[in-house]
Amino acid sequence: MRVFLYPSMKSLARLVTFAAVFAAAVSISAKTLTVGFAQTGAESAWRTANTDSLRNEAEKRGINLKFVDGQGKQENQIRAVRSFIAQKVDAILIAPIVETGWEPVLREAKRAKIPVILMDRTVKVSDDSLFTCFVGSDFAEEGRMAADWLAKHSNGKGRILELQGTPGSAPANERRRAFAEAIAKYPELKIVDSQSGDFRRSGGKEVMEAFLKKHGRNFEILYAHNDDMALGAVQAIEEAGLKPGKDITIVSIDAIKEAIQAVIDGKINCTVECNPLFGPKVYDLVAKIVAGEKVPRVQYNKDELFDSTNAAAAIGSRQY
Ligand code: AHR
Repeated sequence: MRVFLYPSMKSLARLVTFAAVFAAAVSISAKTLTVGFAQTGAESAWRTANTDSLRNEAEKRGINLKFVDGQGKQENQIRAVRSFIAQKVDAILIAPIVETGWEPVLREAKRAKIPVILMDRTVKVSDDSLFTCFVGSDFAEEGRMAADWLAKHSNGKGRILELQGTPGSAPANERRRAFAEAIAKYPELKIVDSQSGDFRRSGGKEVMEAFLKKHGRNFEILYAHNDDMALGAVQAIEEAGLKPGKDITIVSIDAIKEAIQAVIDGKINCTVECNPLFGPKVYDLVAKIVAGEKVPRVQYNKDELFDSTNAAAAIGSRQY
C-alpha cells in the first residue's frame, strides 16, 4: 500500500511565513541606501580630500550618494538638506559651514524621521536630539597640540599673528579658543593680531600681505588654522624677501601632503593633522543607524603632529 505524506496546514503556514521573512530580510539588505551629503564647499585641499573620500567609499559600497557642494554658503546647505528630506533619503550627512542657524532644518529632518549625521564640523543647538551623531576631528585638541609645540620650541616667548578660518565655523572657533587658552600659561607668548583668511590659500596670502604691511618685522610667529592659508602666507612672506620657517616660525593644521613637504623644506615648522579620510567610518555609521543599531554620539578621529623630526618618514605614505 502506498502512503502519501501531505504537510499539515500548520507546517505549510510556517514554511510560507519563513519564506516571506527571509525574502524581506534579503530585500532590506539588498536595498540600495540613498544618502544626501551637504558639503561646505571646496575651500581647501583638505576639503577636496574629504569629498573624494566620501564619494569613493559610496561608490565602493554601492550607495546612491546625492552630493551638494554648498559653495561656502549656509543657505545652500540648508536648501540641499530640504531637498534631501523631500526625496526621502535614508540618511543625511552635513559638514556644517558654521555652528549656528541649523535648528529649523534639523527639526524638519527629525519630523521626517531621517537620521542626520554631522561630519567634520559640529553645530550649536538647544536640543541634542536634532542630530544622531558626530564624526570628525577634535578641533580643540588640534589647537592645544599646536600651542604646546609652539611653547616648547619658542621657549614660551614670541609675538604671534593668527590666520583664522571661516568666521563662525567650529574649527575656527575651537582652534582659536583652545590655542589661546593653552598659550595663556606663557605670559611672554602673545597673539598680537588675528584675521580670517576663510581657510583659503588666496585668503592666507592676502591677509599675510596686510599683516606684513601693518606689523613690519614686529612679530616672530604665525599660527594658521589650516595649511592652505599657511601655504598662501608662505608665498607672501617669500615675496616680501623673508624666509618662512626661519625668519618667521609657522605652525599650522591639517597636515596635507604639500604642507608636510613644506616642513621638509623648512618653510613650515609644524603641522597638526586633521584627517579628512573618514568616508568608511561615516558609512559604517549610516549602515548601523539605518539597521536600527545604537551608535556612539561622538567619534573623534585620531590626529598626529608633524615637524622636522618625522615629516620625511611620513610623506611617502601620505594620501592627501
Ligand atoms: O573643518 C575642517 C577644516 O575645514 C580644515 O582644517 C580646513 O582645511 C577645511 O577647509
